[in-house]
Amino acid sequence: MKVLLVNGGPHQDGCTNRALMEVSKTLEENGIKTEIMWLGTKAIPGCIACNACIKTGRCVIEDKVNEFLEKVEEADGFVFGSPVHFAAISGSLSSFMDRVFYGRGKLFANKVAAGVVSCRRGGATAAFDEINKYFLMSNMIVVGSSYWNMVHGSNKEQVEKDEEGLQTMRNLGNNIAWLLKSIEAGKEKGINLPKREEPIKTNFIR
Ligand SMILES: Cc1cc2nc3c(=O)[nH]c(=O)nc-3n(C[C@H](O)[C@H](O)[C@H](O)COP(=O)(O)O)c2cc1C
Repeated sequence: MKVLLVNGGPHQDGCTNRALMEVSKTLEENGIKTEIMWLGTKAIPGCIACNACIKTGRCVIEDKVNEFLEKVEEADGFVFGSPVHFAAISGSLSSFMDRVFYGRGKLFANKVAAGVVSCRRGGATAAFDEINKYFLMSNMIVVGSSYWNMVHGSNKEQVEKDEEGLQTMRNLGNNIAWLLKSIEAGKEKGINLPKREEPIKTNFIR
């Protein structure tokens, strides 16, 4: 079993990474493989709505998005982490998630997901809500913890002192591990994944 974690912040070794490391360490302790992918500091363009990916499964813009999509199939769970930028997720992560999730309901369905945010002081729940919105319309199973998944600090040393934040990350890791193992045990007992109807697309123009 494997969980892929994404650091959507500009600091490879910053606050978001510190939070993700706590989740990843806990998952590894539970026997689950992990990989943290950092999006880097190069600009990640937004979706250009060309719809080419619907046919090819790849984005026409060659960057971290395709690199990530190649890893999706081998992962059972995902954690997307972001620093809070003006009470929202980072611009990079927003563009990245738009392009990763657009038209990909089937790729992510029944997989486990969680968001993690890091902020100095405020806006964490707004950013957290933003991440969860991608999962909740992709038939994913969203995992919670003992608090909303957030840590506080301007650098990783400050996050280190956020004991409750780090505990929330450990509890999140244990919850993800438990759910992944439960899904696996369910499959072995013949509990199949839920049936899904063919999507009905309606709009409000008649
Ligand atoms: C452009 C920008 C906007 C920010 N906006 C907020 C904010 O709205 N609320 C907040 O508490 N911190 C804000 N911060 C601080 C970061 O969210 C915070 O320091 C975070 O933990 C840094 O994580 P990182 O080291 O992974 O980049 C902002 C930082 C930047 C660079």
